[in-house]
Amino acid sequence: MSGRAKQPPPQFLQMPTWKNNLKIVLGITGGIAAYKAPELVRAFVKTGCEVEVVLTEDGERFVSPMALSTLAGRRIWRQRDFLSDEYGWRIPHISLADWADVVVVAPCTAETLANTVQGRGKELLGSLLLATRAPVLFCPAMNVNMLANTATSENIRILKSRGYAIVDPDSGDLACGYEGKGRLPSPVVLLEEMWRAACPKKELQGKHVLVTAGPTWEYLDPVRFLSNPSTGKMGVAMARAAWYRGASVTLVLGPVSLTNLSGFEVVRVVSAEEMKEAVLSRFGEMEYIVKAAAVGDYRPAFYTEEKIKRSGSDTLRIDLIQNTDIAATLGERKKIGQVLIGFAAESHDLLKNASEKIRKKNLDFVVANDITAPAAGFGADTNAVRILGADGSSMEYAGTKEDVAEEIWNTVLGENRPS
Ligand SMILES: Cc1cc2nc3c(=O)[nH]c(=O)nc-3n(C[C@H](O)[C@H](O)[C@H](O)COP(=O)(O)O)c2cc1C
Repeated sequence: MSGRAKQPPPQFLQMPTWKNNLKIVLGITGGIAAYKAPELVRAFVKTGCEVEVVLTEDGERFVSPMALSTLAGRRIWRQRDFLSDEYGWRIPHISLADWADVVVVAPCTAETLANTVQGRGKELLGSLLLATRAPVLFCPAMNVNMLANTATSENIRILKSRGYAIVDPDSGDLACGYEGKGRLPSPVVLLEEMWRAACPKKELQGKHVLVTAGPTWEYLDPVRFLSNPSTGKMGVAMARAAWYRGASVTLVLGPVSLTNLSGFEVVRVVSAEEMKEAVLSRFGEMEYIVKAAAVGDYRPAFYTEEKIKRSGSDTLRIDLIQNTDIAATLGERKKIGQVLIGFAAESHDLLKNASEKIRKKNLDFVVANDITAPAAGFGADTNAVRILGADGSSMEYAGTKEDVAEEIWNTVLGENRPS
């Protein structure tokens, strides 16, 4: 065997974060979607969170307490525990209210929404909701007409205005035989919504963030294109981390088959020109623009309507023309108050090229990564980056793409600046 022995990729330590360390109270109420609640308990537990389940009296008619306690790995709390003398001074609704980092009510009935608006405490869950200072996420699920009823929509509006988080129900086939809005979203979606509600950082509340992610495809005939191996994971991690912090996020996404994009406005594009149009038409209303897409610098000069066939010659010449440099165009149009964050995937002269990119394109930050490094760059779940600021600052991070995205936002929002 010849050549250098292959080095194992660096192992990034999986640190406990705010995401996998949460204490969740899950309130389950008496809607038909309660049959999905055991799956939600499982999803919460699997992420490393602790879950205390509180089941309403009517909720017990829809889902088995034994299934819930088995999946939660602990006893659950029922209405009969509420006005019981068994717990002495450890009053369940107060101790659970204080223990929780976040309270999730899923599914949430029209009845529980109405009771919460009125501040009713007859149920253990109702009193707990009155007593807690933790963020609360309601996940309404019901018949389409119950949801559209003025009383319910007004209750949802009031709860939102009081600062509660409410998940928009899905549309589709409903258990009652109707079709329409009212379904409980999947556990994956509820998990993300729970993280958003629980996120301790809220600096991007009310801000508009645009993120580009993924590759572009530059077609030369109906079946062939020029592209690159970008998977869009780093950009989606940036979008997700901004969304957790309260931002409204628009994700302009190249052709990748990523799922779990709930919560974002997703604009699908294929070519660099389409990405440019999508970004420029939305740029004006954005406060933060993250250019994480791997946009093709060149496209074929000519598109051939018919599939290119083999010819007698051994070689085929394809002329390329340059695409518009989207980041540079944004840099020229940037207004006061807009923050432009670029990515520089480099294979050589990383720092020199990244610093030049900041200057030439009028960026505020550039996130540079060496695509030849092991366990970093295209396709990997981990990344190792250096964040350079227009003010000359420089920070280095390595970890999962989610962790790196958190650190990039900490840097952009000023938290990582040495004091
Ligand atoms: C079969 C059946 C299914 C029901 N499904 C729902 C539902 O999906 N959503 C809802 O808001 N209410 C539903 N209800 C009505 C609630 O069970 C009722 O309002 C109950 O009092 C809710 O109490 P709770 O919110 O304290 O658990 C259903 C009732 C029945 C009989």
